[in-house]
Amino acid sequence: MENIINDYDKFAEKRQQDLINGMKPSHRFVEKPMMKSMLPNLKNKKVLMLGCGTGEESDLLETFGATSEQLTGIDISNKSIELAKKAYPDKEFIVGDMNELPFESNSFDFVYSSLAIHYSATPEKIYKEVYRVLKPNGLFLFSVGHPLRWASEEKNIDDETLRIIGCSKNDDGNKVYGKYHTFEKHVFTSFAWQNDKEVLAFYVGSPSMHFKLLREANFQVLDFTESRCIEEAKTVDMNYYIKNSEIPQFMAFLAKK
Ligand SMILES: C[S@@+](CC[C@H](N)C(=O)[O-])C[C@H]1O[C@@H](n2cnc3c(N)ncnc32)[C@H](O)[C@@H]1O
Repeated sequence: MENIINDYDKFAEKRQQDLINGMKPSHRFVEKPMMKSMLPNLKNKKVLMLGCGTGEESDLLETFGATSEQLTGIDISNKSIELAKKAYPDKEFIVGDMNELPFESNSFDFVYSSLAIHYSATPEKIYKEVYRVLKPNGLFLFSVGHPLRWASEEKNIDDETLRIIGCSKNDDGNKVYGKYHTFEKHVFTSFAWQNDKEVLAFYVGSPSMHFKLLREANFQVLDFTESRCIEEAKTVDMNYYIKNSEIPQFMAFLAKK
């Protein structure tokens, strides 16, 4: 399976602005609330942020007790790390690939990764690397796209484009929409709330696939959550709220070394 070449640098500045202004509904109303519900106490913990982008997630981690001196972020995008360093000069940010972490074994108490691991064709490699750099009993919290949403198939029905996952009702029907169990690359065009088009490719796999890979990397899986939109979204976009409270957009795992 080939690795993905997304132009992360091109969108780094725009992504940073959108995050700061709350203009990324999936982060504000869906994914970050899910991560918040699973974060442990980070007081006196040495923390690694994997695929940290422009570093805004460090604000969230600090509300759980992490401190600037204890936080390190790594991202493959030069531009994102440049922006992160400017915005958070008191924290450590480095350019690097999460598939081959440039850290000594047993270095961190906690590894956090928000919507980054699904850009890798080899999550098993990342899980082994995270296991290696965690201290004994260290925790790993990460989120990725949920297949129910992202492995679905686009279909035009009644003049509307739908994302469908399902199959023929009757035994003699042979229609299957979507690929829940196949780990493969999907390409999406995102318009967010503006007209600014961002084309992104990422890999989508089933929860059971991630469970299996985590266990093969020797992790003990402690918790698993499928995202639901928070009520606050109702005041901004009712359709967004309804859709994302019924269909999970993301999922998150908490695992222990
Ligand atoms: C959707 S952004 C998420 C950023 C941040 N975690 C957040 O939630 O705001 C995904 C990030 O993963 C980074 N990324 C993709 N592949 C990577 C890799 N192999 N190693 C490190 N970072 C990677 C991208 O550069 C991008 O900044």
